[in-house]
Amino acid sequence: MPFIYHEDDGDQNDLSGRQVSIIGYGNLGRPLALNLRDSGINVLVGTRGEDSREQAREDGVEATTIEDAVRRGQIIFMLLPDEVMPAFYLEQVSPYLKRDDMLVFGSAYNVAFGFIEAPAFVDVGLLAPRLMGAAVRERYESGEGFCCFVSVGQDASGQAWRRLLGLARAAGALRGGAIEVSFEQEAELDLFTQQVLLPVMQHVIQKAAQLLISRGYPPEAVLTELYLSGEFSLFLRQAEQKGLLPTLKSGSLTSQYGTFSRLDRFNDLKLERLMEVTLDEIHTGRFAQEWAKEAADGYRRLNSLVRSQEDLELSELEQQALDLLGRSDDFDA
Ligand SMILES: NC(=O)c1ccc[n+]([C@@H]2O[C@H](COP(=O)([O-])OP(=O)(O)OC[C@H]3O[C@@H](n4cnc5c(N)ncnc54)[C@H](OP(=O)(O)O)[C@@H]3O)[C@@H](O)[C@H]2O)c1
Repeated sequence: MPFIYHEDDGDQNDLSGRQVSIIGYGNLGRPLALNLRDSGINVLVGTRGEDSREQAREDGVEATTIEDAVRRGQIIFMLLPDEVMPAFYLEQVSPYLKRDDMLVFGSAYNVAFGFIEAPAFVDVGLLAPRLMGAAVRERYESGEGFCCFVSVGQDASGQAWRRLLGLARAAGALRGGAIEVSFEQEAELDLFTQQVLLPVMQHVIQKAAQLLISRGYPPEAVLTELYLSGEFSLFLRQAEQKGLLPTLKSGSLTSQYGTFSRLDRFNDLKLERLMEVTLDEIHTGRFAQEWAKEAADGYRRLNSLVRSQEDLELSELEQQALDLLGRSDDFDA
């Protein structure tokens, strides 16, 4: 059984006198820096770019270069994009690490797949939110907190868990529950969701929309019915609180009969096999190697894959539906 840490399991006093340096002030770095700052933690931001340094200063957080933040910090929270992190780590982080420092990652990716290996004299921790950055801030501000995975990969000081849980509490992560997993488990679960759940969902929605539109249903009505109304996200939101089956069972009897009587129709063995193949690629590190090559190649394949999705007629129909519904196109997740 995995262990789940709650609010009382972390003590911010375990961070007292320690400077937390946030390396990277982007999607996740900024919300975490602000949460920690608002919890009274001594936060210093280290960035590559002047703009993000300026942004941090405007937010009222002290900001400097990455090297300086590592030199001055005792808890170094790595929040750069995973695919560029190893190069930054090698040049601007590892030369300045000191005995008794703690390196913390927002994703286990680089440690789990061997792209970053910390020296034996530092602690290594993982504090990986299961939500997008904006929600990490919103749920801190609302008092709800957010779920995350935590791990200690290396405990050089004998204090690594105490420090990590103190940090998790200050960030707002213990209020939502912090589940202990290994670095490998976090990295593999994260990739599995991205490579199975999202493509399957994208595929099902696209195929359903194409079928319904080809049968003459109005595109705006189809897309609204499938997901633009927000009913789908409300369904998931309820499932998050009370479970999938109770949520399905809270629908009308017509809905329940329709769902349960058709469930097996979509029980495709090929889908299970494809999930296994995808998990094996992730687990053996083949995907991580493929992605490292793709990054070195300037993301050529990624760009072309994104373009081919953008070129689908459905993307245009979706934009028209969003315009008709008066939705903003600058929504920032
Ligand atoms: N995004 C999320 O919601 C989320 C959720 C859970 C975990 N994580 C983990 O958190 C970490 C940070 O992810 P993120 O989404 O916050 O990163 P991000 O916003 O994409 O990037 C963070 C900062 O890194 C710098 N940066 C961006 N691209 C760069 C490049 N090509 N080369 C060098 N520097 C670059 C930028 O700062 P400058 O302006 O200073 O260059 C940027 O603000 C990752 O380990 C990720 O897996 C993220």
